[in-house]
Amino acid sequence: LSVALIGAGAVGSYYGARLWQAGHRIQFYLRPSLAFDAVQQQGLQITSTAGDLCVPANDLALFDDTTKMDPNPDWIIICLKSTALAAIPELILPLLSSERTRVLVIMNGFVEDDLIKLLREATGQSIDDDPEVPLKCCRTLYGGLAFIAANRDAPGHIKHMLGGPIAAGVASSQVSNDLAREELMQLWKPVDSVPCSWEDSLLKGRWRKMLWNLPFNGLCVATCRPVNALCTDPSLRQLATLIMEESRAIANADIGTTQEALTVADMEHMWHLSDSVGAYQPSTLIDLLEKRPMEVEHLFRKPVERARALGVPCPHLEVVVALIEALQRQYDLY
Ligand SMILES: NC(=O)c1ccc[n+]([C@@H]2O[C@H](COP(=O)([O-])OP(=O)(O)OC[C@H]3O[C@@H](n4cnc5c(N)ncnc54)[C@H](OP(=O)(O)O)[C@@H]3O)[C@@H](O)[C@H]2O)c1
Repeated sequence: LSVALIGAGAVGSYYGARLWQAGHRIQFYLRPSLAFDAVQQQGLQITSTAGDLCVPANDLALFDDTTKMDPNPDWIIICLKSTALAAIPELILPLLSSERTRVLVIMNGFVEDDLIKLLREATGQSIDDDPEVPLKCCRTLYGGLAFIAANRDAPGHIKHMLGGPIAAGVASSQVSNDLAREELMQLWKPVDSVPCSWEDSLLKGRWRKMLWNLPFNGLCVATCRPVNALCTDPSLRQLATLIMEESRAIANADIGTTQEALTVADMEHMWHLSDSVGAYQPSTLIDLLEKRPMEVEHLFRKPVERARALGVPCPHLEVVVALIEALQRQYDLY
């Protein structure tokens, strides 16, 4: 299958390299930067607990301009930060075939509603349309959840520390749910190291991921410490547990009673991941340390707004989000 991979940072490089290894035809997009120059010269080097991997420079289709890429790919996979959401229509519209191209957004946070609005605006599809009316510009838009711990430790060098499975569900589609699912599985089936599972409800999937992101991305930023520091310090461990419990309460209120609720077992799974990951710095903490905008709006602000709208108290989460927003302002990262 042909794949345009938009954003070759830690997550994009890892999954792009795995798809390449499995035999798909990948074009990578990186905006012009020192990272672009390094990848163009040296290729992509992945150090991974699932086996190291190199995409040599002479095998790498790398672009710094999406208008120069082969259009109408089977897939576009977007691995930017949610802070770059507004840039997505201009990046992908030159590539999209409305009948053929499936778009998979692998990011953290509640991004799909805003992305659908941006794509509708950019393509002249009325934003007052019933939300059930599918996007006309692509075949299917999927939301993707990456259960992975990976960092870009130097331009073109990715350190993959844990996990790798993907879960995805439909945000908007011109085809049936069953067909959308089958097409997603065709993409990932040849990639042995990346198990892919299906989310019947993307909302529930996003909330399951939030059980990790809200306590761990949140407290790592607020304390400027890696995940293992939260796991081993008794006060921080207790605080993370409280935030995870609050997140589960908001999630279950939002998911409603028509679906199975998130359970204590879901929380235990998140603790198992955290206890295994070591001194991993979530990408939001790296953003802060490197003085880049953090993914505040979609990762932290939207869950708190959902809690308020649903009348679910989340005092510990509110404090952590307030601290993160203050840091964002202090360093003028907006
Ligand atoms: N890292 C993880 O383990 C992990 C796990 C689960 C989910 N996630 C989520 O996955 C997403 C990607 O994270 P990441 O860790 O891969 O981040 P990353 O290493 O910082 O990579 C982000 C990529 O997006 C590019 N980018 C950012 N803003 C852009 C813009 N306006 N225009 C064009 N390109 C832009 C960056 O360009 P430059 O190359 O110029 O910096 C970089 O290539 C985030 O939503 C994150 O929360 C990450």
